[in-house]
Amino acid sequence: MMHFIFSDDVRRDPYHWYAQVREASPVLHDPRSGMWMLFDYESVKRAMDDHETFSSVVHPPTGRAPEWLVFLDPPRHSKLRAIVMRTFTPRAIAGLEPRIHELSRALLDEHLARGEMDLVDDYAGPLPVMVIAELIGIPIEDRPRFMRWSQAIVNLSYAIAGGAAAAQALREHAPARAEMLAYVTELAERRRLEPKDDLLTRLVEAEVDGERLSMEDILGFFQLLLSAATETTTNFIDNAVLSFIENPDQLARLRYNPDLLPWALEEVVRYRSPGQAMFRETTRDVEMHGRVIPAGSFVLVMVGSANRDPKRFANPEAFDIGRDPNPHIAFGHGIHFCIGAALARLEARVALTDLFSRMETIELASDEPWEPRKALHVHGPAHLPIRFTQRVREESLR
Ligand code: HEM
Repeated sequence: MMHFIFSDDVRRDPYHWYAQVREASPVLHDPRSGMWMLFDYESVKRAMDDHETFSSVVHPPTGRAPEWLVFLDPPRHSKLRAIVMRTFTPRAIAGLEPRIHELSRALLDEHLARGEMDLVDDYAGPLPVMVIAELIGIPIEDRPRFMRWSQAIVNLSYAIAGGAAAAQALREHAPARAEMLAYVTELAERRRLEPKDDLLTRLVEAEVDGERLSMEDILGFFQLLLSAATETTTNFIDNAVLSFIENPDQLARLRYNPDLLPWALEEVVRYRSPGQAMFRETTRDVEMHGRVIPAGSFVLVMVGSANRDPKRFANPEAFDIGRDPNPHIAFGHGIHFCIGAALARLEARVALTDLFSRMETIELASDEPWEPRKALHVHGPAHLPIRFTQRVREESLR
């Protein structure tokens, strides 16, 4: 089964497969890998709610997951989370808007005149990396390195499948990790001597139970933020543009009524959730839909499928930018609810406003099916060549 769900066709469009499995067996066991998967909204939400039964301290086939916030349980989880939450306050995030616009426009300026670009490489990839780099407090010129590191981290998801791809991902991560450690150690040392108003300084100065964070903890945050903030947001923007290109009536609707943009963004993450699967491990036997998942099982919680569950969403296979209500769980739910949700929404809002107000027509520049990104738990195109015409009047979406 793992080979099947790793194939490009299924990764490009897993939704037919989800629909079949959700209907036939919403709680699925893969005997070969030993993994369990949850597909329906009710089970997925329950797994996120009940963090005592569904622990985030997971042991995928290749060993224990790294000790990052997202893979911790309380009480340590709550303490570490509190440190970063102070950086991601609504006010601090809203204050970033002008800077994000500036970065976005600079990226677009480079490519607009050509009438063609690869949305992923030229825009949606770099933008979130630059934003999170500034928030953490790292120089923007180091961007190429971050992008390489971010890819090495995200590729770790291959480890879940085992086999050659897992071995390669682990091999490639090791030198990247060593580079990151050297880089972060030096930067942290500088912040210790000369504090600034950034996340890195906050991490260097933070105390948990009267103790400073170790360099390993700081490196963990660095890796988590680098991957959680970039890959997901890149896919958010790419998936938005892709969904609008596929549904021109919805783009016309948005242009006619730009106030729908916040709703449209929620619909994008429901319709094509950037993170398709969360990871959990059962701490006791648990019964769901008449099946017993034994204690100690590795469980893939399929958010991307839950967000298409017809029991929860009317006409779930339709991309409807006015959908209301839209109780999607694309940013998770419960104690691990995404810390960067407001930032991701802001970046996507800025991105779509800039893209659609500066482009008149916009279409795919290739007839080939788009190539999906290579990591298991994320969903979006690896490349998205687009062709467009520039707008004469570019101050609004209309
Ligand atoms: C569209 C973009 C994004 C999506 C769809 C997304 C999705 C998620 C989801 C589903 C979780 C829960 C994981 C779990 O329960 O196991 C999560 C956690 C997290 N996200 Fe995001 N995320 C996005 C963007 C961001 C950004 C921009 C940041 C940082 C700036 C970020 C930082 C985090 C962190 C640190 C956690 C761990 C929280 C915890 O364990 O308590 N995410 N995200």
